[in-house]
Amino acid sequence: MTNPVISATGLWTPPHSISNAELVASYNAWADIWNRENEAEIKSGLMDPKTHSSVEFIEKASGIKSRFVIDKAGVIDPDIMAPRIPERPNEQISVLAEMAVLAARDAMQAAGRKPEEIGAVICAASNMQRAYPAMAIEVQQALGIEGFAFDMNVACSSATFGIQTAADFVRAGHAKSVLMVNPEICSGHLNFTDRDSHFIFGDVATAVLIENEAMAPAAHWKILGTKLKTQFSNNIRNNFGFLNRAAPDGVGAPDKLFLQEGRKVFREVVPMVAEMIGEHMGELGLTPEGLRRMWLHQANANMNRLISAKVLGREAAEDDSPTVLDTYANTSSAGSIIAFHKHSGDFKPGERGLICSFGAGYSAGTVFVERTG
Ligand code: COA
Repeated sequence: MTNPVISATGLWTPPHSISNAELVASYNAWADIWNRENEAEIKSGLMDPKTHSSVEFIEKASGIKSRFVIDKAGVIDPDIMAPRIPERPNEQISVLAEMAVLAARDAMQAAGRKPEEIGAVICAASNMQRAYPAMAIEVQQALGIEGFAFDMNVACSSATFGIQTAADFVRAGHAKSVLMVNPEICSGHLNFTDRDSHFIFGDVATAVLIENEAMAPAAHWKILGTKLKTQFSNNIRNNFGFLNRAAPDGVGAPDKLFLQEGRKVFREVVPMVAEMIGEHMGELGLTPEGLRRMWLHQANANMNRLISAKVLGREAAEDDSPTVLDTYANTSSAGSIIAFHKHSGDFKPGERGLICSFGAGYSAGTVFVERTG
């Protein structure tokens, strides 16, 4: 039997960061303009005025302090309130593939892996830039990888679903080394004029190399087990598609952007994920005491606090369940991989941890790993 392992991870962070104060200032300026433009309707009671957003609320409700984005100027301009990313000609690499390549190179360098040794590329992300050709095939070409490549979308759980898919390919002998990338331009699907959610997301790209143990570097991560779950819910939606497109400026078609019932998501997903982790841990014969760290999906700090407390049976310290959403916000599929990438260097051989994602669908994935070497 061929054992799939995680050889390395990679990260690419956009150069621009937006603080809560900057984001709130632009939202409030936009709301003031909107209220002035709709003064008559507001006065006659036909419309409710837009109320201001607040830095204190955002940090308390979510734990988010700032986010990285591809285009800061458009997002914080009250007359635009969306990223402005110029369309590229077909001859040029797409933005999504470009950032995936940068994260991939980081992972390949860490593993000492050459393109010709990789047999497949999976692009697992929430927001694909186009329908086809697949972003993964573009990444494959840019890096000079042979074999096959395809895109898959399981929203915030795309990376753990991608890891299991890649591990299955390695097990079945379809590829010895699989590059799984998660480029996320979440600012593209976010409605920056929606006070309830304008602060939630950020942009980033991550990469994971899943390989046959025989070719992996001595220091790698054994995959002890993976488990995936989905359960239909309308509480997180994005209706954008080529059958029902957004208005050209994105604004004015809010149901073609990210929409959620945040409270319901919180209430329903926390028990679902905690139960799933407990079940999977039991199936693998693991105990909370034997778990050094959990790299949880990064959507909300309070959600992660509750999930870790349910799993561990005690309040989790930052070392048990590290936070990256304070600086990255929710980066969809990439969140748990950023946490793993940034907070796993101190692991000793034999120590075990959990990569866990959850999000729209609903969908959730657990990947238990053990450090070697
Ligand atoms: N600034 C100031 N106040 C705000 C605000 C903002 N930006 N947005 C909402 N509020 C107000 C609301 O109007 C409400 O006021 P009210 O009590 O007078 O009606 C109050 O704050 C509470 O709003 P609510 O939406 O219930 O907040 P919350 O505590 O549930 O936090 C989320 C909101 C979205 C941060 C939280 O529910 C969450 O993170 N849920 C899970 C999200 C998730 O994982 N999504 C997956 C995405 S892939």
